[in-house]
Amino acid sequence: MVKHDDYITPKYAWENIKSYIPQDKVIWEAFYGNGNSGNHLKDMGFKVIHEEIDFFNKDTTPEYDIIVSNPPFSKSKQIMKRLKEINKPFILILPSSKINTSYFREYKNSGLQIIIPRKRFIGIHFEKIVDGEKLTNWKNNSNFDCFYYCWKMNLENDITWID
Ligand SMILES: C[S@@+](CC[C@H](N)C(=O)[O-])C[C@H]1O[C@@H](n2cnc3c(N)ncnc32)[C@H](O)[C@@H]1O
Repeated sequence: MVKHDDYITPKYAWENIKSYIPQDKVIWEAFYGNGNSGNHLKDMGFKVIHEEIDFFNKDTTPEYDIIVSNPPFSKSKQIMKRLKEINKPFILILPSSKINTSYFREYKNSGLQIIIPRKRFIGIHFEKIVDGEKLTNWKNNSNFDCFYYCWKMNLENDITWID
């Protein structure tokens, strides 16, 4: 089965939230894609680990402070479980509909916060890659809107609306 997990994050999706990411922390962009996402974060001045490492392999988890990433959506259940075990801060781009899942409910009352982008920023401009190829016949208006799901980031507000 073809996995439609390769949505590549445009730079402005990280620029949107730059002010919420501490500059002095080591970021792990844990899901590789084509490598661009980590480069965008580096260009913005962050210290970034962005390598082709299996996120679920405990033996290769790097030393880091915050995960900032756009993960494969089809693995979000396993990813959210693993992140709870790791118990470190994260900012993840995921579809807004995920908030209704049972595995997100596991984060109830644990300080989960969300940043809500303007519709025109996220959910419409991801570049989609299938089996290493950029899709040319794929409409850019994807059928999901996204939030930045934040945990242990100590944001001022539980819901932050980006202007
Ligand atoms: C939605 S894409 C986003 C890629 C990149 N983070 C970005 O923002 O452009 C998710 C990527 O996760 C990667 N991935 C899938 N399973 C993974 C795993 N177990 N460990 C690490 N990366 C994985 C794939 O390379 C896939 O392209």
